[in-house]
Amino acid sequence: MFHIIRTFLKFIYASKNEHGVHSPFVYSLVTKCFYDPKNYPAYSILKKYRTVLLQNKNAIEVTDFGAGSRVFKSNTRPIAKIAKTAGITQKRAELLFRIVQYFQPKSILEIGTSLGLATSALALGNPKANILTLEGCPNTAAIAQNQFEKFGFKNIASIVTEFSTYFNTLKGNHLTFDFIYFDGNHSKKATLDYFEAALPTITNDTVWIFDDIHWSTDMEEAWEVIKIHPKVSITIDTFQWGLVFFRKEQPKEHFVIRA
Ligand SMILES: C[S@@+](CC[C@H](N)C(=O)[O-])C[C@H]1O[C@@H](n2cnc3c(N)ncnc32)[C@H](O)[C@@H]1O
Repeated sequence: MFHIIRTFLKFIYASKNEHGVHSPFVYSLVTKCFYDPKNYPAYSILKKYRTVLLQNKNAIEVTDFGAGSRVFKSNTRPIAKIAKTAGITQKRAELLFRIVQYFQPKSILEIGTSLGLATSALALGNPKANILTLEGCPNTAAIAQNQFEKFGFKNIASIVTEFSTYFNTLKGNHLTFDFIYFDGNHSKKATLDYFEAALPTITNDTVWIFDDIHWSTDMEEAWEVIKIHPKVSITIDTFQWGLVFFRKEQPKEHFVIRA
């Protein structure tokens, strides 16, 4: 907790809004997307999706992966509580929706489906996109799949897999993704392993978002490594997220922006 408070204060000190952003690419993203005040109809669908989960009284047996949970002690977990604690917040889901709507990626990969709270934002952001979402826990993935069907999301394909197993299948198959949302294992090693494994899938316009870049000193170290990678041009730290761009025409620059 102390770590989060300290890093958040540092973030507040270093961060800006659109003022002082000289990159037209970033200025446009911040003003037209991050700070877009419009109340999109998709927001109420996102809210409804969340409410259905929050009202679900069942519990499931989860397979625990990754950096562990700071909330759960047992592997039998109420669905409502998973929705409340493990998934993206409503405000962030709305921002994710706007980012996808803004960039209109055609192929999207999500690493870490959980109950699909973020997946629904990706799907609504570009209903024409092909979305692939990965989840290692079969029971959690089944609830998400059920939700996708209930809400009529036809552009989501879900795979139950350990992330590294999926990345191994990527080797040499020349698949590209326009957008990746990394929200799975929040440890430095896993984050950097997935970063390296996903690099062959980038195009010049690919957008990556890493969740929880300040969650721990470990994750902050991973973020610093990502920023200095030679293939990375622009990065944007919004505290919760690290956005990564690979645009060759853009000089390397790191932004810290309140979103
Ligand atoms: C933080 S949650 C994802 C939240 C989701 N993106 C959302 O916003 O609603 C991370 C999910 O990744 C899964 N996960 C973590 N590490 C994994 C791994 N190594 N392989 C497969 N799944 C994993 C967990 O089971 C968990 O459901």
